[in-house]
Amino acid sequence: MEGERDISRRGCVYLVGAGPGDPELLTLKAARLIESAEAVVYDHLVGKSILKLIPAAARRVYAGKEAGNHALPQHEINQLLVALAREGLRVVRLKGGDPFIFGRGGEEMQALQAAGLRCEVVPGITAAAGAGAAVGIPLTHREHAQTLVFATGHLKDDTVDLDWEALARPNQTVVIYMGLGALDIICRELLAHGLPAGTPAAVIHGATTPGQRGVYSSIGTLPAAVSEAGLRPPALIVIGDVVAIGEAAAQAACTLAGQGMGPVQ
Ligand SMILES: C[S@@+](CC[C@H](N)C(=O)[O-])C[C@H]1O[C@@H](n2cnc3c(N)ncnc32)[C@H](O)[C@@H]1O
Repeated sequence: MEGERDISRRGCVYLVGAGPGDPELLTLKAARLIESAEAVVYDHLVGKSILKLIPAAARRVYAGKEAGNHALPQHEINQLLVALAREGLRVVRLKGGDPFIFGRGGEEMQALQAAGLRCEVVPGITAAAGAGAAVGIPLTHREHAQTLVFATGHLKDDTVDLDWEALARPNQTVVIYMGLGALDIICRELLAHGLPAGTPAAVIHGATTPGQRGVYSSIGTLPAAVSEAGLRPPALIVIGDVVAIGEAAAQAACTLAGQGMGPVQ
């Protein structure tokens, strides 16, 4: 593609963040790169309306990556990116959220660099930032949270290996990605390491998408509340006093709408 909208180079792989779901949260740079791509390799969390930006003539490869259902293993994705770039194509590797936050973008960049290929990273709005904004939870707050921690709750050998002592500290917000399957373990460990049972906690599913749902609870009762609500991945667990601000915002919104208190909408 020629012309002033052409910002991409042949033989280069662009690791592009697609944001948390709402297509309006895509960056201008991401949109322009997708529109000029000749090959796009995308993950399952990239929304349909974003995929519509891919030119009809471009090669599309679905790389999958739902929990336990990887259409392509990571080493094959790396090899594919290398092969597409070596063909001299304008390649976009499109990932949900931000490529460098629990997105394995680092491994893909290293594989491309090891192959002597060019790679450029385009940041996206990570799910935590999208979810916080969407439900009115300020992830940091001068009075409540001076530290913000992102962690992965991905189960490995049926357990989660995190620094529980650090995560149970006061005056911080903890956001756990991929943690729904380990919610019981996470809450149990945090309680065992001294986090008070009444600490506000929420699970938010599908943040910024039309299917956004969630529950507010506390760390002592979150697993039961989530199981009752039947929440599924993709979801984030948010823990800390700032969650109460989001809950108050949801209550105010319900009152304004003339409804009773319900789950996060
Ligand atoms: C493999 S990680 C990718 C994270 C992504 N790179 C980012 O920066 O948001 C996938 C996890 O991100 C979280 N996630 C992604 N999009 C989400 C959304 N719209 N709402 C809630 N959680 C989301 C979920 O925890 C999901 O299991």
